[in-house]
Amino acid sequence: MMHRICFIGGDGIGPELVEHGRRVLDALGLAYEASEASAGYECFERSGTSLPDETVEAVRSADAVLFGAITSPPNLQNYRSPIVRLRQELELYANLRPCRSYPNVNAIAREVDLVIVRENTEGMYSGRERREGEQAVGERVISRKGSERIVKFAYDYAVRHGRRKVAVVHKANVLRETCGLFREVALEVAKEYAQVETEEVIVDAMAMRLVKQPQAFDVIVTTNLFGDILSDEAAALIGGLGMAPSANLGEGTPIFEPAHGSAPKYAAQDRVNPCATLLSACMMLEELGEQERAERLHNAIVHVLSEGRVLTKDLGGNAKTSEMVDEIIANMQREGKRREP
Ligand code: NAI
Ligand code: MG
Repeated sequence: MMHRICFIGGDGIGPELVEHGRRVLDALGLAYEASEASAGYECFERSGTSLPDETVEAVRSADAVLFGAITSPPNLQNYRSPIVRLRQELELYANLRPCRSYPNVNAIAREVDLVIVRENTEGMYSGRERREGEQAVGERVISRKGSERIVKFAYDYAVRHGRRKVAVVHKANVLRETCGLFREVALEVAKEYAQVETEEVIVDAMAMRLVKQPQAFDVIVTTNLFGDILSDEAAALIGGLGMAPSANLGEGTPIFEPAHGSAPKYAAQDRVNPCATLLSACMMLEELGEQERAERLHNAIVHVLSEGRVLTKDLGGNAKTSEMVDEIIANMQREGKRREP
């Protein structure tokens, strides 16, 4: 089966990490047709747009996208984040962020294995913000349709992955209309999944409980901004953004990207952690139905981490990014040989 994969490096450390992702797919012997497309700030400076039409076209005609990261200039008007736009245009309404503890990663918490399912197209990121003289106003849009599909997604994910509990996170005690609707819909959907336990957690309590006892959580479903914040918090618990993958799933072509940004100060130094990108590639392989390859890559990452010999600086080692990826590839190849009859 020939997959069509679109690679978008973006800015900063994005391009080098996506290139490593591609090397890993090659080493796995994955049959794919590659396309490359541009997006981000450098693309904007070069061409006047952060998301050219050709890129949207390339994404639409692919089966999956491996995305690096983009730099968002904070003070530029008329600049729209290409990844936020892609999520909205392709209706990638679910942002999936697994947070798992890995061996030898110096982390705040141990034995964490949770998944945050964040609504990805509405909420505070609906793009309805404006200046009104001396005040700024932002509108938070929560729809029945948007809430229903994200909550269903979370429960279906729980069922498919044998997870037992879903925490519905909101602030309906204060945001009575927006979170109120989200909560109402979530509790309706929950009734259809009797085999999954449901818990409601107010978002500020969630922020605290995640630090105190992250092991108590399994699947967490929430609105856009809350999910954005909680997923970085959860990533910090398991050893930082260098270890956190993500997937944008929904109607259109799925996009897989590390949870971190473009870390411009580390660009082109061959020093950042490749795991978040490679774990995103694992999620992509699963979504493409390539379970065996996904597992082989995942096992190799875990193996290299447990050995602890070839680790990047953020993991306490002194290996270059490329050296850690080489080690992961070598491990996959050894395993591949061992399995051959
Ligand atoms: P960042 O995630 O790029 O970097 C924050 C810090 O995390 C870095 O200084 C570094 O210490 C660490 N870090 C990140 N990735 C790492 C890796 N692979 N290995 C080791 N350490 C790593 O976030 P920051 O500095 O807030 O933003 C930089 C740019 O990225 C901004 O323009 C921001 O808007 C953008 N950004 C883009 C995202 C995306 O493409 N989806 C997501 C988050 C931020
Ligand atoms: Mg974020």
